[in-house]
Amino acid sequence: MSTTLGTVVASLLDTALDRTLLLGYSRPGLVIRSRLPGWPGDVDVAGKVVAVTGATAGIGAAAAEDLSRRGADVVVVGRSPEKVATVADRLGARGEVCDVSSLASVRALVDRWHGPLDVLVHNAGVMPPSRQLTAEGIELAFATNVLGPWLLTRELAPHLADGGRVVNVSSGGMYGQRLNRDLMADLLEGNYEPLVAYARTKRAEVVLTQMWADRLADKGIVVHAMHPGWALTPGIASSLPRFSTLLGPLLRSPAEGADTIVYLAGGHAPGQRTGLFWHDRRPRPTHLFGLNKETPEARDDLWHLCEELSG
Ligand SMILES: NC(=O)c1ccc[n+]([C@@H]2O[C@H](COP(=O)([O-])OP(=O)(O)OC[C@H]3O[C@@H](n4cnc5c(N)ncnc54)[C@H](OP(=O)(O)O)[C@@H]3O)[C@@H](O)[C@H]2O)c1
Repeated sequence: MSTTLGTVVASLLDTALDRTLLLGYSRPGLVIRSRLPGWPGDVDVAGKVVAVTGATAGIGAAAAEDLSRRGADVVVVGRSPEKVATVADRLGARGEVCDVSSLASVRALVDRWHGPLDVLVHNAGVMPPSRQLTAEGIELAFATNVLGPWLLTRELAPHLADGGRVVNVSSGGMYGQRLNRDLMADLLEGNYEPLVAYARTKRAEVVLTQMWADRLADKGIVVHAMHPGWALTPGIASSLPRFSTLLGPLLRSPAEGADTIVYLAGGHAPGQRTGLFWHDRRPRPTHLFGLNKETPEARDDLWHLCEELSG
């Protein structure tokens, strides 16, 4: 097969995997894709300062480890002082304690931040089993997955070097949700269903990725979102036990889930574009089959909500 034909077939197969979800998001998806012609293999993070939130378990811990092995100066960010110390010691990395669901904790991290920053990875994420409020009175999934990262991005952006990158770890679950004012209000004040609430916050992350990308472009900072695929982590095992048992061996390892985070931190192509949603090292649509598109007003509402709630 000629190289061009091989690349076209590889691209078609890659897209087919993406649309079938089960194959694309599980382990076979990554295994097959990484063997196809044109798989972008380049990652250079040597000497880069990369902060990873939620780096004490699951995909975040695996990303921190991979980045560290590739020579990055990793900053392990987590909410548990003991876990942060353990992981940071193991990697020989800097540790920072921060509960990203708490605006006060995010501000404290920003106040004591020192030194340069090349890549900020917002990986910490939760799917609370029931509606819970933070000490600041904000619904926990929104506070952790959306508001804390939004504030951290805003406050750490001045520290990000020209050529800096922000990576938001979202989820393919966002495809099923459309951002609109009522849905966000429902998330913050109304009925609570864990998977729906989670998916709405993950949609919000993708929308905010695009909005940050526009706002930070003139500073030379790129902003991307990604979906790790389905990986067997402590979070998945506890929040979706039946899913974990059912898919079992088909699930990715945390390191496989972290693969595209590492690529977005140090791959060449992500540095050339901004505001995209990635999975398995390739940009993917943000809306499947044109469904669930939000209006510009809904996007602005979300931005204003973050401004308002964060003071
Ligand atoms: N696993 C998957 O299949 C999958 C699929 C789609 C998207 N994702 C996304 O990938 C990311 C990582 O997921 P995971 O499966 O690795 O989750 P996980 O196993 O639950 O690990 C989550 C990490 O985030 C930390 N964390 C949680 N809340 C925090 C907070 N308020 N402040 C600081 N750190 C906090 C946890 O700290 P502790 O160690 O203290 O608990 C832990 O280190 C999440 O954003 C998730 O939505 C995962």
